[in-house]
Amino acid sequence: MKTYNIAVIPGDGTGPEVVAEGLKVLHAVAGPAGLKFDFVTYDLGGERFLATGEVLPDSVVPELRRFSAIYLGAIGHPDVKPGILEKGILLRLRFELDQYINLRPVVLYPGVDTILKDKGPDDINFVVVRENTEGLYAGAGGNLKYGTPDEVAVQESINTRKGVDRCLKFAFALAQKRNRGKKLTLVAKTNVLTYASDLWERAFYAMAHQYADVTTDYAHVDATCMWMVKNPEWFDVLVTDNMFGDIITDLGAIIQGGMGVAAGGNLNPEGVSMFEPIGGSAPKYTGLKKVNPIAAIAAAQMMLETLGEAKAAAAIDAGIKKTVLQMKSMAAGQMGLDTTQVGDLVAKHAAEAV
Ligand code: IPM
Ligand code: MG
Repeated sequence: MKTYNIAVIPGDGTGPEVVAEGLKVLHAVAGPAGLKFDFVTYDLGGERFLATGEVLPDSVVPELRRFSAIYLGAIGHPDVKPGILEKGILLRLRFELDQYINLRPVVLYPGVDTILKDKGPDDINFVVVRENTEGLYAGAGGNLKYGTPDEVAVQESINTRKGVDRCLKFAFALAQKRNRGKKLTLVAKTNVLTYASDLWERAFYAMAHQYADVTTDYAHVDATCMWMVKNPEWFDVLVTDNMFGDIITDLGAIIQGGMGVAAGGNLNPEGVSMFEPIGGSAPKYTGLKKVNPIAAIAAAQMMLETLGEAKAAAAIDAGIKKTVLQMKSMAAGQMGLDTTQVGDLVAKHAAEAV
């Protein structure tokens, strides 16, 4: 029996509720798939910070390096100034564990409503590869004369050739493997960001010849927002920097049915990866069992896929697809079921599908 050690960070708000459902589904497929999961829970997030002043104790990062993967709920607390927990936990983990890919599939499950008129599951099926350790997120910059009328604020986007190349390489390989049009679209802003986007563009076309079967395309990020709404079927794999990737994946989430459906993986292909629903902590729903756990369950599925457990991952996918047909809506409070009931159904259907 194959054993995986998984670090679990339930986190803030509704994070613990949706993580509980993801763990339920993992337990359900484990036996039939011949897998064993050892979960170790880490109490990190707003409550701990408010109680102890600790954000991410230094001892935690080296500990996390020893796990097969990390499963995260959500980070963000209404009583904590924005930035402290996000930078101190989520971004610090992405950076320190060098999770340089943020993989965000935008998939409309059959039977799920999209806000896009006349678009269906065949049209909405692409993946965003977001660079996850550089760009505007690198934290370069600072203030001069802070708080005075003469204040200057500088926030710089850091783009290294190595960082761009490793991200592009992952994206090209994914486009080749996905076998759905084999098209890779670079999303940038070459008409304005004539240093940073230019580096991305040169690196992109320099690498393209190594992947002759992949069709390359380019779209400005603003136009991408338009095409994602008007012609989402044009996209197969998109690759972009950290900030653009953050923005377009919220748009991606809403066209695939909402934040309750969208899953993401912070990947270090050579190290420890971390999987999370991308919707955030949704504090107003905390404890009400109203939020949709599908995103968290799909994140668990992506975790298994990344670990090489294709069969168990496919069973979870089948379980999700069957369950969404039994749900009234993907929106919190409108599912016709509560959080736990959705998890129960996926667990049952997934176990049957192994
Ligand atoms: C995301 C989130 C984070 C990000 C926040 C919470 C720091 O929006 O994962 O997309 O900006 O990366
Ligand atoms: Mg975001």
